[in-house]
Amino acid sequence: MNETDYGKSRKRVLSGIQPTGEVHLGNYLGALRQWVHMQDEYECFYSIVDQHAILGEGDPADLPARTLDMAISLLAVGVDPERCTLFVQSDVREHVELAWLFNTVAPVGDLERMTQYKDKSQRYDSTPVGLLNYPVLQAADILIYRADAVPVGEDQRQHLELTRDIARKWNARYGEYFPEPDAIIPEVGRIKGLDGEAKMSKSLGNTVSILADEDEVWGRVRSAVTDPQRVRRDDPGRPEVCNVFTLHKLMTDPSLIPDIEEQCRFGTRGCVDCKRIFAESLSRRFAPFRERAEHLRAHPDEVRDVLEAGAERARAVARETLDEARSRMGLCWRSAL
Ligand code: TRP
Repeated sequence: MNETDYGKSRKRVLSGIQPTGEVHLGNYLGALRQWVHMQDEYECFYSIVDQHAILGEGDPADLPARTLDMAISLLAVGVDPERCTLFVQSDVREHVELAWLFNTVAPVGDLERMTQYKDKSQRYDSTPVGLLNYPVLQAADILIYRADAVPVGEDQRQHLELTRDIARKWNARYGEYFPEPDAIIPEVGRIKGLDGEAKMSKSLGNTVSILADEDEVWGRVRSAVTDPQRVRRDDPGRPEVCNVFTLHKLMTDPSLIPDIEEQCRFGTRGCVDCKRIFAESLSRRFAPFRERAEHLRAHPDEVRDVLEAGAERARAVARETLDEARSRMGLCWRSAL
């Protein structure tokens, strides 16, 4: 396939991730694994959304390092700059301008109904308008590439619905231009943490970094909660209620799964041994990630070059879309000369 076919024949994907610094198992299973797979079939744009991140409490002094670490982790899990465009959101200033244009059609009522907004606004005495606006910037991130599909975790479904609404409203007023992108949500659904209860998340400490070494992996996995009714090692277990078994099915070699299931059910393998197998599966999967991350950490120039080149490619598309949107909205006074 040559350069020109590349862009035209494939559907386009955009996704974004906040620069939290560390990618954990939940991020990987919830979205990043999809990002990696989708590179084979789609023209992919992947963005580290630092302008969304400045709404959090993080120290600005740490943000550059968190952004770089996120880039390293993404490249480590297999986001491949030869097959996608990886860039930092704030490098492509067109997003915020399109977000303003979308602010003129996005309904306040819909924004106020977003679950994430309702949850997060509780944490403030005085809610910043950026929190309400967050999904408008997200819509701009997506629509500025006229993306057809957006691989995201389950928690982003509502924001994607709003993106579609914004596209529809804008198109109704200014003419068909933006596609209504589909959310691509992995079937795994909500991934529970190693505590077997809450959603897997870094802040709850119930997960494991994809860059963890064998000892760290085991340190996390050994205390993972299994079937609570299984007390003694030879008690028969219930794999269908055991979160570790669910995680096995996502990360362990599929040919091992029938034995793991049967030995649990008949009490012939204890939970600790079962978790050892799981820890081994993780360590095996993570080893190449760690190796790539180590290389990149030692060669930060390579990461910089990838992000610079990505921003440039992204900017070319973003500028074209923004110019068209501006012009359809009458922001082109020269055309009246
Ligand atoms: N809101 C997303 C999250 O918290 C991050 C995000 C920002 C995003 N812009 C995006 C995701 C565009 C997909 C597409 O996970």
